[in-house]
Amino acid sequence: MRNFIIIGLNLLLLLSCNNEEIIEIASPDTKIEVKVRVKDGSVNYEVSFKDSIIMKPSNLGYLLKKSKPMNGNFLVSDFKISNSNTKWTQVWGENIEIIDNFNKLEVSLREKVEPFRKMNVVFKVFNDGVGFRYELPEQANLKEVLISEELTEFNFSKNYKGWYTPANFDSYEQLFQNAALNSIKTANTPITLEGNNNVFISIHEANLTDYAGMTLVKNKEKDFSFKTNLVPWPDGVKVKTNTPMVSPWRTIQIADSAEKLIVSNLILNLNEPNKIEDTSWIQPMKYIGVWWGMHLGTHTWTLGERHGATTATTKKYIDFAANHNISGVLVEGWNTGWENWGKKGAFDFVTPYPDFNLNEIAYYANLKNVQFIGHVETGGDAAYFEDNLDKVLRLYHNIGVKAVKTGYAGAIKTKGQFHHGQYMVNHYRKVVEKASKYQIMINAHEPIKPTGIRRTYPNMMTREGARGMEWNAWSAGNPPEHYTIIPFTRGLAGPFDYTPGTFDILFKNSKNRIKWNDLDDGTSRVNTTLAKQLSLFVILYSPMQMASDLIENYENEPAFKFIEDFGVDWEVSKVLNGKIGDYITIVRKDKNSDNWFLGSCTDKNKRTLEIKLSFLDANKKYIAEIYADGMDADWKTNPQAIEIYSEEVDANSILNLKLAAGGGQAIKFTPIN
Ligand code: NOJ
Ligand code: CA
Repeated sequence: MRNFIIIGLNLLLLLSCNNEEIIEIASPDTKIEVKVRVKDGSVNYEVSFKDSIIMKPSNLGYLLKKSKPMNGNFLVSDFKISNSNTKWTQVWGENIEIIDNFNKLEVSLREKVEPFRKMNVVFKVFNDGVGFRYELPEQANLKEVLISEELTEFNFSKNYKGWYTPANFDSYEQLFQNAALNSIKTANTPITLEGNNNVFISIHEANLTDYAGMTLVKNKEKDFSFKTNLVPWPDGVKVKTNTPMVSPWRTIQIADSAEKLIVSNLILNLNEPNKIEDTSWIQPMKYIGVWWGMHLGTHTWTLGERHGATTATTKKYIDFAANHNISGVLVEGWNTGWENWGKKGAFDFVTPYPDFNLNEIAYYANLKNVQFIGHVETGGDAAYFEDNLDKVLRLYHNIGVKAVKTGYAGAIKTKGQFHHGQYMVNHYRKVVEKASKYQIMINAHEPIKPTGIRRTYPNMMTREGARGMEWNAWSAGNPPEHYTIIPFTRGLAGPFDYTPGTFDILFKNSKNRIKWNDLDDGTSRVNTTLAKQLSLFVILYSPMQMASDLIENYENEPAFKFIEDFGVDWEVSKVLNGKIGDYITIVRKDKNSDNWFLGSCTDKNKRTLEIKLSFLDANKKYIAEIYADGMDADWKTNPQAIEIYSEEVDANSILNLKLAAGGGQAIKFTPIN
């Protein structure tokens, strides 16, 4: 019988009696405690928050093809504890400085019977949650690793309310649902759980590298419990690798308020430091694009009378960007292949349509000091893109392009592969790594979910991976509460290229729309007020933030000044209030000025939110430029009504934000010198 108590690191002890060994470790502030238990050869973990168990003993281990299961017969051969409290600086982000403070437990396990394999489990316990991962060290009896099941369980103690999208191996573009845990059959991550006594939990993963994406599936044998379901290869195997290997971190963010989940840096802290030495070319930006017209059906990606990406139109967009403090212009449909949609090898990615002069556009953009943003739509043909990766990136690099949007719409063309399996995880990473060599930033659509890779490769700017603006153009769209859920769920994982900024909410200026999408029943519109569109620039974080409407709809619109003034890289971000699914208010301080920006929005219910401006510098006075819902604004009946006015405020001021049904408010605070 062993019985250790180690003093100095919060609550670490190893108790051993009969067939059970327990090692305990706590967060630096001692509020979160983790117990790792090896009982009768099986390994599990348990998590408590403020002395209440939130995760009951939950199993760990693997099932492997060509090797015995790795979930029994273990003993603790060693364990190590350490702590770390450092700070690091983001190249760009919601905050410049990130505190990385945790206690770490590394448990070395060994099988007590043949084949005597080794497995380690490593836990990092932060004040904002827990990360743990598996390590399979190099060893004689385990070389090739074919994971048929990761056995990680999340065995919750209560029937929390979950905010989630059902698991899907190819798309995250579903609406979030809210249901009691015991009625959720499957889920993508992040899934965010809400308890009664101020307990908020989010399950996700960090540093998803050379591994399959994780989804969750109801554990029928237990109450309120999920098992891990990794996205498979065509032959059913989940992960194909060799020892030594490490899994992604399984993350459990824990907070006593929903707002605190948003400011958690746990996912970033569980990623490797920046690998790109010279980051001077990595610049957050606002952009516009030849884009919305194609989704509306007023323009086409293909060549023809309504072709969007012509030299003339693109020049107009470049001029508009140059005149309105916008750095980039995305152009979709400039290259051939759209007429062969759905076929393998449809796109060669580099041949312009005859009405688009690539070199002239590159020259013109450069002249106007605007960036031409490249576009690579693969139609799911990732393999063909990978074969042409150098060719495509070289072309873009040579004409001065600094950012490329990629897309993987449709099924993955390599038979049996999914968007979220190991094959595609590795593809997406290859693109980011290769792009960094060509000094190109990436904005990926139909991507793998974010897991904090932006820390290691800060050219991985933003991505889709949720239901974006496009859905409003050709389907029932995104309901008013969408924007009050995303920040607490998908938003926890990382930046989202939602592409806000529709001013022509009811598409009144686009009468000549031609239906191209089956989901379009002719009633599509944007389900917000205009002021709420502005608020989304602040609320939905992205280092590449698109003002997505047609430029005609921005001309002479006073509300566009907010977008023009909007910063896009932040010194600090704060969540002032929020209730998942109901409302949220976020403020961010510009990295390059003393300006602050506020975004606040509500679901379909109107409400007034009292906001204390104590985040402002106490020694300064500010002009608040307020973009508020008009008196009788309502997302359904009067979405466009907006009131724009200014007022002098300081850190002692209190504002009552009146948000219309489905509305919002945006404010710019400028110090008065
Ligand atoms: C899907 C992307 O999400 C969208 O932004 C893009 O316009 C289309 N694919 C076409 O590439
Ligand atoms: Ca999409």
